[in-house]
Amino acid sequence: MASTAYLQNALGHAAFAATNVRQAGGVSSSPRTCAVPRGSMHAPAAAASLRSFEGMRAGAPTSKMCNEASTSFFEQTISQQRLGRRTAAAASRKGQVVALVTYKVAVLGAAGGIGQPLSLLVKMSPLVSDLHLYDIANVKGVAADLSHCNTPAKVEAFTGKDELPAALKDVDLVIIPAGIPRKPGMSRDDLFNINAGIVRDLVDAVAQHAPKALIHIISNPVNSTVPIAAEVLKKRGVFDPARLFGVTTLDVVRANTFVAQQQKQRLIDVDVPVIGGHAGITILPLLSKVKPKTFFESEEIIDKLTTRIQNAGTEVVEAKAGAGSATLSMAYAAARFAESSLRALDGDPDVYECTYIASNLIPDLPFFASRVKLGRMGVEAVLPLEGLSEYEQRALEALKPELKNSIEKGIEFAKEKAAASA
Ligand SMILES: NC(=O)c1ccc[n+]([C@@H]2O[C@H](COP(=O)([O-])OP(=O)(O)OC[C@H]3O[C@@H](n4cnc5c(N)ncnc54)[C@H](O)[C@@H]3O)[C@@H](O)[C@H]2O)c1
Repeated sequence: MASTAYLQNALGHAAFAATNVRQAGGVSSSPRTCAVPRGSMHAPAAAASLRSFEGMRAGAPTSKMCNEASTSFFEQTISQQRLGRRTAAAASRKGQVVALVTYKVAVLGAAGGIGQPLSLLVKMSPLVSDLHLYDIANVKGVAADLSHCNTPAKVEAFTGKDELPAALKDVDLVIIPAGIPRKPGMSRDDLFNINAGIVRDLVDAVAQHAPKALIHIISNPVNSTVPIAAEVLKKRGVFDPARLFGVTTLDVVRANTFVAQQQKQRLIDVDVPVIGGHAGITILPLLSKVKPKTFFESEEIIDKLTTRIQNAGTEVVEAKAGAGSATLSMAYAAARFAESSLRALDGDPDVYECTYIASNLIPDLPFFASRVKLGRMGVEAVLPLEGLSEYEQRALEALKPELKNSIEKGIEFAKEKAAASA
């Protein structure tokens, strides 16, 4: 046990790949490190035995994505495997202590449909030392359940507002899926009035108790909740546009799946950048930039695929017939984005994702989902929009008014309705 992959043992299969093992010194701004003696009973003897869930990978083995930047999780994982093996081999030769760089993550809304499977996937990450589960509903059962998984992260439950400060203490990453989900017949904007207040109050607490943390916002409507979060952070004087993210990874995951199905490709081989926003026509998959290079027979096929990607959330809402919106695929997507962010914090120089962020890429749209390079401080670079097809240029023009309205609605809400604790 001590020298084998405990995550493999825990789940009973071999779909894992080595990742993110660093020796002391080569680490990020404020990582926690834990010294692991070779041969310890409580941790793997060698760094090589650390594994991460292969299913988090999504990308083409040879991809140089959107504007030549690589987004390939496959490539990243391979390079990490090499690094991990080198690190482990060196440590093993010297009989040294190997330091594992790990991070503290809080999930706010952890008892919910997304929160629970997301927490499970985060619990599987070897990059996470502490997992704080917070909800207004009782989350103790979820924490007790997860704490029996023999993966490294220590799980703690925090219920109700009084425990929120402790839930946020010293966390590196806060993921927010708190709120109500869409029901049939509701648009994402119908959720606005309830979720806007929830996100405002939670982000206000983050601003006070974890001002340096990366913040991943899942609660819809993301097009408005992220601008709300930005305003709240500004009011507290801690807004850093490089650290606030709207999670749009589910649009990428869906686009990858639908394009692979249409092209009869392996799901894992396809990567589609998705830009714009995270509702209806504001979701703009760039089918001219699919990797590997893909040719669609007609504009009709491109239009059909684009429309399906834009309305995929509704497919799930209707199929669940009143029982909520996407939870499992969303948890998968959010866990992939969290893993990418932590890998970048950890110093991986080759992490790219699409995410909805504050930027000045498009005049009049202070928030826009773009392909970004993630680094030790959050967003390191926003990749420019170049070489869009005519279809994509038309779609970009068409989405601007709706996205602008949603952004303004969020900003107005935050300006007019101060946070409960402000
Ligand atoms: N970004 C995306 O791609 C995407 C995809 C699907 C769903 N969503 C959104 O994610 C959110 C959650 O969806 P779900 O299906 O998990 O809903 P859910 O109702 O199953 O879970 C929401 C959880 O949030 C908790 N909660 C409510 N108010 C809270 C507060 N103030 N503090 C802490 N916790 C609070 C609830 O108790 C519940 O446990 C919804 O807004 C939904 O629209 C986003």
